[in-house]
Amino acid sequence: MRRKLVAGNWKMNGSLQSIFTLMEGLKAGASSITGSDIAVCPPAVYIPKVVGLADGSAIKVGSQNICDQDSGAYTGEIAGSMLKEAGCQYAIVGHSERRALYGESDALVAARFAAARRAGLTPILCVGELLEERENGTTEDVVARQLDAVIDLEGVSALADAVIAYEPVWAIGTGKTASPEQAQEVHAFIRNKLAAADATIAENIVIQYGGSVKASNAAELFGMPDIDGGLIGGAALQADEFLAICDAAQ
Ligand code: 13P
Repeated sequence: MRRKLVAGNWKMNGSLQSIFTLMEGLKAGASSITGSDIAVCPPAVYIPKVVGLADGSAIKVGSQNICDQDSGAYTGEIAGSMLKEAGCQYAIVGHSERRALYGESDALVAARFAAARRAGLTPILCVGELLEERENGTTEDVVARQLDAVIDLEGVSALADAVIAYEPVWAIGTGKTASPEQAQEVHAFIRNKLAAADATIAENIVIQYGGSVKASNAAELFGMPDIDGGLIGGAALQADEFLAICDAAQ
């Protein structure tokens, strides 16, 4: 039986003051969320602080990115071992903002995925199509290509300890959520594709939905058979809203 995971991707938002307030709020409410898992992914510089603030709660911490290399002359990058030492359990890889704004290729995302596993972190692999790709009917091709980059490098068994986040790019930060049926269709496609290679991995893997999830639409989305929680952007910055989304997942 899969346990749903709701993760907040804070992106490049916050300050020491605001993360303190947010974490106080989340901690106060997290004790009543026992039926699903909760994680937050702060900007890297705040990770140690957030790990400290989360202490004593069930809130797990993840990074928003990770270097594909393990150490050395990679200015500006952060190694998996460092994230692990700082207290991370998860590492987001291949977020569409990284792919689109910073030119991360499928191959680089796959290498970052591999680095997370080497460090003992659970990668949250983001996949998803652009609006034009949805409109020209290539959603499944795009998602399959993004998954295959990882499977070709690491083998399907690498997905046994990974999370997939399906985030249609046109739904991110736009207020335009995929309908539960639209999302379910792609989630089922992902699970069926994995099942063709390994039925157990396909059955057990957590596949989150991301893209304009709010307290008001979370229950409907999470009620679909292949949607195992969410990766939440804007709505993760308010404790009450995020907790309501976590509650919808349990
Ligand atoms: P929004 O929830 O703000 O649409 O962002 C989704 C996202 O990109 C999470 O990674």
